[in-house]
Amino acid sequence: MEEQLKKIQQDYQDKISSSKTLKELDDIFISLFGKNGQLDQLPKQFKDLSKDELRVVGPFFNQVKQELEKAIGSKRESIREEIYKALENETFDIKEADIKKRKGHIHPLTAFEEETAKIFNKLGFVQIDAPLIDTDHNNFEVLNIPKNHPARDLWDTLYINSKSQNPTDKLLLRTHTSNSQIRALKENKPPIRLMNIGRCFRYENLDARHEHTFEQFEIIYVDKKVSMANLQYLSEYFLKNIFGEDIKARLKPKYYPFVEPGVGVDGLCIFCKGKGCKVCGGIGWLELAGAGMIHPNVLKNGGINPNEYSGIAWGFGPARMAMIKHGIEDIRLFNSGDLKLYESK
Ligand code: FA5
Repeated sequence: MEEQLKKIQQDYQDKISSSKTLKELDDIFISLFGKNGQLDQLPKQFKDLSKDELRVVGPFFNQVKQELEKAIGSKRESIREEIYKALENETFDIKEADIKKRKGHIHPLTAFEEETAKIFNKLGFVQIDAPLIDTDHNNFEVLNIPKNHPARDLWDTLYINSKSQNPTDKLLLRTHTSNSQIRALKENKPPIRLMNIGRCFRYENLDARHEHTFEQFEIIYVDKKVSMANLQYLSEYFLKNIFGEDIKARLKPKYYPFVEPGVGVDGLCIFCKGKGCKVCGGIGWLELAGAGMIHPNVLKNGGINPNEYSGIAWGFGPARMAMIKHGIEDIRLFNSGDLKLYESK
């Protein structure tokens, strides 16, 4: 057995000193000390030795075991040192790396609305809130549009199932920001200069310029002697601030029950330069807004004396204007989640 131990000692010292990796050392350790390893199995034969043999073999076994354990330990240390040294000499060359700079910006519609709010803010208009879910009363009735009035056909309305039996309490998704008018008039005393921006909803036939969920921007201006001249001036001022001096816009007569007289504000279609295309629906002009002098009945509903005060209101579509500003050919792109809307060139 002494011979056997000497052979193990010699063979494994050689194996340990020639090993190059921690994995090799682990394998050596297991083949010596693991279950069924050479040094693990040897003591099982001690029972066959005489006392004299055991007196020599026992201590020699312990010596070989400790020697080999120590040799594996120090070899493990030196392999680790080599690995650390190799890591210290490693460098990263980040100069050559092709890191693409990605620049984004806020949604063009949000940017447009912020720009618009700033323009009107400078003119003394203050932003107010109005609910997106409102009553039939606030969205239609107080705006001079009673139940069964044919003008309701102008707004394809999405009603909400509600328990109330009262038709004027019926809930709906607001069809326009004009639902802010009654609040603006009731809750404030003239002079009133307010604006409301937000989502509106209609059961629309969708196309390049019609969305079911879209934004509107409402302006409400009430004071003594406010006239169509103020509306004309504000329209031009606004459009020139947004599009520059060369913008071509027109006012045309248009019917809305809550204004008298009523107008539509059109911008020349930049896609066809007035010739007519699928974006403008062949008209050559893109309808941007509806506006007019606030109807005396609406002023009365808001508790304002129409003999003393007059007002203008104006509701336009930021998406249609942003389409012209950025050359976007389809309104549905705004809500599509398409990332190209957010990328800077
Ligand atoms: C109205 O909604 C009126 N409340 C506007 C108004 C306010 C008139 C105050 C008088 C006084 P109209 O339905 O025309 O009007 O819509 C106004 C603008 O909203 C349109 O010119 C258009 O720019 C935008 N708009 C309307 N429907 C859609 C739609 N489905 N998708 C995108 N934009 C729309």
